[in-house]
Amino acid sequence: MPMRTPPLSLYVHLPWCVKKCPYCDFNSHGLKGALPENAYIDALLRDLDQDLPRVQGRTLHTLFFGGGTPSLFSAEGIGRFLEGVRRRFKLAADLEVTLEANPGTVERGRFAAYREAGVTRLSIGVQSFDPKKLEVLGRIHSGEEALDAVEEAHAAGLHNFNLDLMYGLPRQSVEEAEADVRQAMALMPAHLSHYQLTLEPNTLFAAHPPLLPDDELIWAMQQRCQELLAGKGYEQYEVSAYAQAGRRARHNLNYWNFGDYLGIGAGAHGKLTDAEGRVTRLWKLKHPEAYLESAGAPKSLGGVSQVSGPDLAFEYMLNRLRLVDAFNASDFESATGLPVEHIEAGVKRAVELGLLEPALGGWRTTSQGQNYLNDLQSLFLPAKDANRKASA
Ligand SMILES: C[S@@+](CC[C@H](N)C(=O)[O-])C[C@H]1O[C@@H](n2cnc3c(N)ncnc32)[C@H](O)[C@@H]1O
Ligand code: SF4
Repeated sequence: MPMRTPPLSLYVHLPWCVKKCPYCDFNSHGLKGALPENAYIDALLRDLDQDLPRVQGRTLHTLFFGGGTPSLFSAEGIGRFLEGVRRRFKLAADLEVTLEANPGTVERGRFAAYREAGVTRLSIGVQSFDPKKLEVLGRIHSGEEALDAVEEAHAAGLHNFNLDLMYGLPRQSVEEAEADVRQAMALMPAHLSHYQLTLEPNTLFAAHPPLLPDDELIWAMQQRCQELLAGKGYEQYEVSAYAQAGRRARHNLNYWNFGDYLGIGAGAHGKLTDAEGRVTRLWKLKHPEAYLESAGAPKSLGGVSQVSGPDLAFEYMLNRLRLVDAFNASDFESATGLPVEHIEAGVKRAVELGLLEPALGGWRTTSQGQNYLNDLQSLFLPAKDANRKASA
């Protein structure tokens, strides 16, 4: 089957936060001193120019400002960058432009100004509305400030917004997790991301673990919150993502469907398919200072690697298995250019284990598969990595 040229997205990483949260392992850095806004936007535009020859003539479908805390940047800065994008790309008529915002950085009028600059969608990091939980999470905002931020989003006409919530928080009860979801739904978000708090290596929480609810409680929270969301018309379409009809996150869907994306900014990753069907991954220097200094020059590249054969098949599955909708052999073949034989043994085993089920002429991740996603994904590891895992 001929390989399709997948839709193209652009990820833009803005790496600073007011202060680092103790659970977070993103490439984010507490701000010391003034935000180097102009210098960073200049660096992003140089970075874009360097990557541009790799995507010549292609249309841009989605753009995502992620972080870090992109809402630390002014609307003028975001607008100047978007103007640079408009000058360099053919844009889809329905271009989606999402910006991540922390409620502690949203003063009056900020969202309206972002919208004016070209932002079409917001993703607001709420985590919880409970003051005690916000405190243990080291958040810089209160529950009221989160409500104010949402009110600002609606007032700006940006009704297409996501709220990030986490559950399985230190000493959280099922009722408390439910209360957060109820409060979130009352704010009419178009989309909700509901993440289980995980202890990530190299974070303050990993070094000093808080007391987390046990697996049984976490399971109960997940079940109850899924029911609540489904009852209000929020359809789960990915392990952690719920959306109203027609409001799925198109940028994230492009990742999960193994689309292409440029990644610019400190530590950003890109994945691109060339005209011959070769898939390349490339990433930028991670540290903001090193990135600022080198952006636009070859030394800003942290690395480039080609992905093929079993590694490519695995990467497709790693992403695609997160989605609830079924996929079939021709989805796999057109996204990777590989014959479906690459995944047949893994699919057979996954069906036997109840992690995948036959659906619509292909397969779908079962709810068991969603809960044991790592186990499901590892059935598709290339033999060399699977052997290493087995002997570890
Ligand atoms: C880049 S942050 C979002 C925007 C902004 N920086 C903020 O925190 O308000 C992305 C989201 O990932 C989630 N997240 C971060 N670390 C996590 C962890 N250890 N476990 C689960 N979710 C996590 C949080 O919900 C967070 O809002
Ligand atoms: S969770 Fe968000 S605000 Fe907190 S450190 Fe991570 S990126 Fe920054």
